[in-house]
Amino acid sequence: MHIVREVTEGLYWIGANDHRLTLFENIHPIPEGVSYNSYIALGEKTILFDTVDWDACRQMLENLKYVLDGRDLDYIVINHWEPDHAASLQEVLIEYPNAKIIGNLKGFQLAEQFGFHIDEEKKIIVNEGDVIDAGNHQLTFLFMPMVHWPEAMVTFDLSNGALFTADAFGSFKALDGKLFNDEVDYDRDWLDENRRYLTNIVGKYGPHIRKILKKAAPLLDQVKFICPLHGLVWRNNFSYLLEKYELWANYEPEQKGVMICYASMYGNTEQAAQALAAKLCDLGVPNVSVFDVSNTHVSYLIAEVFKKSHVVLASCTYNLGIFPVMKNFLEDMKALNVQNRTFAIIENGSWAIRSGDLISQFLDEQMKTITVLNDRVTIASHLKEGQNEEIEDLALEIKESMRG
Ligand code: FEO
Repeated sequence: MHIVREVTEGLYWIGANDHRLTLFENIHPIPEGVSYNSYIALGEKTILFDTVDWDACRQMLENLKYVLDGRDLDYIVINHWEPDHAASLQEVLIEYPNAKIIGNLKGFQLAEQFGFHIDEEKKIIVNEGDVIDAGNHQLTFLFMPMVHWPEAMVTFDLSNGALFTADAFGSFKALDGKLFNDEVDYDRDWLDENRRYLTNIVGKYGPHIRKILKKAAPLLDQVKFICPLHGLVWRNNFSYLLEKYELWANYEPEQKGVMICYASMYGNTEQAAQALAAKLCDLGVPNVSVFDVSNTHVSYLIAEVFKKSHVVLASCTYNLGIFPVMKNFLEDMKALNVQNRTFAIIENGSWAIRSGDLISQFLDEQMKTITVLNDRVTIASHLKEGQNEEIEDLALEIKESMRG
């Protein structure tokens, strides 16, 4: 049974949703699923834009067959060769052996590496700026290396204003019938998963995102649809989406607020984190959130770091080091290039309290453009009643630092 949505006249979404996959890339939880978007343009020629993950292949083939309605497939454009989009290519070619594949040289090299065999005579290798006249569809290509693989590219269909953006502007979360940004309450239902996808999958490559945003800027007044490979198709309000991308790509926080992350073995470090949260709220500090790093997948922590201006790391000492899950969070922040944030530290230990110094050293030596506040709260096993003042001092310093 086909499940198809029309994007605009002659252009259809023929992708599929996946609610069975629990971990995207076998690492990021996707409790609300994910969509693999594939599109087909009909005109004098038929053009498929990307395929889908192997798990979704059958649904895509049924959709494709329905939309083609007996026509042959002339072209397949592969903007991104990661297997969640290209794995079904060979199945498509079994059904439509006459189709020519449009991609760039790096992409075809990657295809070989993954063992996707494509006959030489089927390949159409494009360079940046080339225009391919596919009947009444004129396609042009912009390369966007490292967003987030080296071969990734954007295809613009000059005839209908559809910009096929590969993973750029993609999101976790299955579509479940919806397709367009204006069919959903984006801020309520999509923004968090959009941010979590972008920051964890592409976050490392902020400068590359900035480059493609700049490169695509002259096209923007011709763009009518932004068609990513995961999540919603945008057909209006582009500036809202682009503003979010500018912030994420520049590692600038979306809001002034404090994310308090604690690593606590017996609840004592947690108590300090909660005491600080209460004090901050007492002082009127906005947007305070608290996370247990042991029980929160790091992808959610990363998304929150990209959102907030201030981060408090509260960690017990473990094996004379930083508690392992907190260490893992630090390593992830470094890997994803988190910068331009203000940090504060709470440390705990029953002997040889080391976590604070080690966190401070990591922030100083391993991360870029980070400010670490002077006040540090040190707990020997359990926060004492007399330490209320220390918590208050830290809260006041955080509040003061937000004024800038
Ligand atoms: Fe959705 Fe980079 O693949």
